Amino acid sequence: MYPVSCRWMLVGLDPGSLDERDSSTSAAILAQARGSAPGRLVNQTGGNTGAVLLLRPPGVYPAQRDTWLLAEALRREPKVTGARVLDLGTGSGALAVAAARAGAAHVTAVDISRQALAATWVNARCRGLRVRVRRGDMVQPVLEERFDVIVSNPPYVPSELDRLPSRGLDRCYDGGIDGRAVLDRVCTGAPKLLDAGGVFLVVHSAVCGVSATLAHLAGEGLEASVVARCDHDFGPVFSARAQLLASRGLIADGQRTEELVVIRAVRPR
Ligand SMILES: C[S@@+](CC[C@H](N)C(=O)[O-])C[C@H]1O[C@@H](n2cnc3c(N)ncnc32)[C@H](O)[C@@H]1O
Repeated sequence: MYPVSCRWMLVGLDPGSLDERDSSTSAAILAQARGSAPGRLVNQTGGNTGAVLLLRPPGVYPAQRDTWLLAEALRREPKVTGARVLDLGTGSGALAVAAARAGAAHVTAVDISRQALAATWVNARCRGLRVRVRRGDMVQPVLEERFDVIVSNPPYVPSELDRLPSRGLDRCYDGGIDGRAVLDRVCTGAPKLLDAGGVFLVVHSAVCGVSATLAHLAGEGLEASVVARCDHDFGPVFSARAQLLASRGLIADGQRTEELVVIRAVRPR
């Protein structure tokens, strides 16, 4: 059903942190990708994040700095062991895999993209991990369920228009005029799926407004704070939009770095 053999890419992240099991799995993946050429190995450094090799079909978000900053926060999260974890906008499944590796009892990954879910399924299965995949619009497929931990790296790059793309890589990045079109929906939807004591972890650029996210989550009854930050050189998407962002006053003229933040929000018991 899914074109697993067509132009999948291997994204190599922080090979130094791979454990033995990952190394052998990676070798198997590499062999598989070579057999179904033209596979490609791309090297990126995710820092000491426990980042792993991931298969990524074209059009699926390449796990990167924001992914690994959130994965790091997830790894530090004491509530993950034995938990029901939901990854909203899973992409290649990097965070879902991280949750399963951290000992979550049940991991559910949601995305609107079929290719993303196929990648997530493969990336989990080839590590012997169970991740349930559901296709749909953010919280829509899991409205009747409850979770202990929810993670999300939503599209948040401010874009030309508020109308969001319906396909392709832009769907992974575009966040509407202020970058908050999907982020605000996630901040409204995720808290309703949390059980008492549950935790929501979300990553985004400070360009979209950190205090706006904190206020939004407080309005949903959660206790929210920033738990991780890092400065980051603009990637290709932010660089291409630098002039647009400056014209809207979202960045200073000549600014070429952004701050990424992870916000942790808890539903009080
Ligand atoms: C920035 S990427 C993050 C991918 C992955 N979680 C990571 O951190 O590497 C955002 C993801 O959200 C998905 N997405 C965008 N709009 C969505 C929607 N309305 N419902 C579900 N997923 C959506 C995209 O397909 C993409 O995979």
